Amino acid sequence: MIRGLQRADAMPEEPTLDPADWTALRAEAHRMLDDMLSHIERIREEPVWRPLPGRVRARFREDLPAGPSNLAAVYRDFAMNILPYSSGNAHPAFMGWVQGAGTVEGMLAEMLAAGLNANCGGRDHAAIEVERQITHWTRQIFGYPSEANGIFVTGTSIANFMALTVARTAKLGAESRRHGLAAEGQRLRAYVSQAAHGCIHAAMELSGLGSDALRLVAVDAAQRIDLAALRAAIAADRAAGLAPFLLMGNAGTVDIGAIDDLAALAIIAQEEGLWFHVDGALGGLAMLAPRLKPLFKGIERSDSVAFDFHKWGQVPYDAGFLLVRDGEKHRSAFAAPSAYLRRETRGLAGGSPWPCDFGPDLSRGFRALKTWFTLKVHGTDRIGAAIAQSCALARYLKDRIEAEPRLELLAPVALNIVCFRLRAAEADRVNAAVVAELHERGIAAPSTTTIAGKLAIRACLINHRTQKRDIEALLSAILDLGNELR
Ligand SMILES: Cc1ncc(COP(=O)(O)O)c(C=O)c1O
Repeated sequence: MIRGLQRADAMPEEPTLDPADWTALRAEAHRMLDDMLSHIERIREEPVWRPLPGRVRARFREDLPAGPSNLAAVYRDFAMNILPYSSGNAHPAFMGWVQGAGTVEGMLAEMLAAGLNANCGGRDHAAIEVERQITHWTRQIFGYPSEANGIFVTGTSIANFMALTVARTAKLGAESRRHGLAAEGQRLRAYVSQAAHGCIHAAMELSGLGSDALRLVAVDAAQRIDLAALRAAIAADRAAGLAPFLLMGNAGTVDIGAIDDLAALAIIAQEEGLWFHVDGALGGLAMLAPRLKPLFKGIERSDSVAFDFHKWGQVPYDAGFLLVRDGEKHRSAFAAPSAYLRRETRGLAGGSPWPCDFGPDLSRGFRALKTWFTLKVHGTDRIGAAIAQSCALARYLKDRIEAEPRLELLAPVALNIVCFRLRAAEADRVNAAVVAELHERGIAAPSTTTIAGKLAIRACLINHRTQKRDIEALLSAILDLGNELR
């Protein structure tokens, strides 16, 4: 049994932040847990989103609190001013951007992880073994070898940046970490399709290579990278004395879920001597759905893959992951000796290498625990079935749109994203207004994007709670709003 500090042992002049009354704390804690479980159990009855009233926003402009507040009062503040105004991605009618819904088990694991307060930067303790366990599972998901290494990060934005760093260091040698890019004298070039996520541009900027060193290759009608254009771009750069080093493939583009021909990209990368990285933020975990897995053929030949357990894996935010085929190349891009992080063969300072050897973070939370709970409790078959269900719902929505003359499908549906709109004069304005009304009336939360210059309503079906009735509610609300707003 876990026991708290015995108050009688504490001197009055020895302040602690532990509760003075554990019994009262326990009752309050149980109430919070019960309330949150009820919230999730009944989430469908709530609006998907509510605009924040001015008085609620003003609540968060208080001065720094010097004195204490009662826990129950702070919790009441949360229940009244935070919980009702959350972004809604746990709600079945949330279909915007690319956001997982989370699971109850993941939430409980977050509580346990916070109770342990593990720092997962390193040292020899069980939390690090849980992360290694997840790495082993990700090797199995993506068909990677046992020497592959993985690490939890906030999300794929950072994982893509780290993969770029590993690829750059592998190309220039570990000394380039000291000498810097300019000293190496090579003008590196990276390749990705025009449909790539903006975080890849950001990664190029952050790396010091600059986004001009990123070649944005043309796409075909289904928004997959054009292989002939890719080969031509690499050849032109070589002829100009530039140094191609990195090819990035999309396992589901952010706008429409297009999957590049990853097998062909693996071959091109091998022939050209390029690092082959896959951005699997959106679609990578569809490897868990047997009928979808063949769409990603070639991913098992990549040098690295970035993906998010917090999207289709339904692990509560945040739980991004980077997996690198050659664990030693991964380590040599980040590991740095320092006296205060000395490794030992025994004691708590054992267990090297540590996660901090594989990325820029030293202090890190226990993201692995909520992932471990989610994967163990549900099993990959059930998670894979939820992923397949998202794609089935997307096909259902597509069919309904194609059968409805007032609606127009704007892009092919490769996975779980459907881009469409109401046919209307001033269609951009009308469709943007329809989406804002859907949000503000709490009916549904799709997002928007632009497809071939047209504003699209974008439904990204990734939430394990979404059902056919939510698709029907979305469609009928859009048609009604169309009549109202035209
Ligand atoms: C294809 C793609 N790449 C990268 C990202 C960035 O991932 P994260 O938000 O986890 O940083 C996203 C986010 O939606 C995405 O869809």
